[in-house]
Amino acid sequence: MNKLFAANWKMHKTRAEAATTASELARLCAAPPAGREVLLIPPFTALAETGAAIATADRFFLGAQNLYPADHGAFTGEISPAMLKDCGATFALAGHSERRHILGESDALVGEKTAFGLASGLKIILCVGETLDERKAGRLAEVIERQTRAGLSGVPVDVDPERICVAYEPVWAIGTGLVAGSAEIVEAHGLVRKLLEGIFGANGRLARILYGGSVKPGNASEIIGLDNVDGVLVGGASLKADEFSRIVLA
Ligand code: 13P
Repeated sequence: MNKLFAANWKMHKTRAEAATTASELARLCAAPPAGREVLLIPPFTALAETGAAIATADRFFLGAQNLYPADHGAFTGEISPAMLKDCGATFALAGHSERRHILGESDALVGEKTAFGLASGLKIILCVGETLDERKAGRLAEVIERQTRAGLSGVPVDVDPERICVAYEPVWAIGTGLVAGSAEIVEAHGLVRKLLEGIFGANGRLARILYGGSVKPGNASEIIGLDNVDGVLVGGASLKADEFSRIVLA
């Protein structure tokens, strides 16, 4: 299974800035190490330019930060998988913690997005993770199970598991500089793997589980080497090409 190095640019970068960073990354990571793939996830407005900048880059992919679970219709401000694919995206995030906690997305909506996105031909990265209060209250396993099951509830069990990623992003580690410890990452990823095997059987071993939360060049190689860590989802440290390239090449 190829390891996925995903750059979530969140609400950063104009079209020109995104194109510059993407081109620079394609140059710096012209040949990602064997078994590694790079995924760039710019804001919607910069999808086309980012895609153009990496069009000839080997093992580079384009993703979107969100989608709405309908082909078209009266959904002001939303965007459909068909529109994302039209811009060149092959991946999309569903249920990023900022959408759950700032925009109020429910488990049920995240599940609809995951199922609809997959049915529309996108690869989906379902994001799960506990808040600090939930962790302190000993509710890690319960939260991960609830979000993972709800997120995957509408997905056919015979789906190609290589089209699914689950990103474990503890909310308290996102943008805080606090990175989960190795034991905490292994524990959470083990829980996710067990859930995936429970839902998809042996195929659950083929879905990728990513870690996200304050991944930096200095901690990436240790994290990527842990059990059941099949990639990383990087926010702040993905904004500069030089810094993110050092994660991809770590
Ligand atoms: P940071 O890498 O900035 O902590 O963000 C993680 C994240 O939310 C990626 O989706």
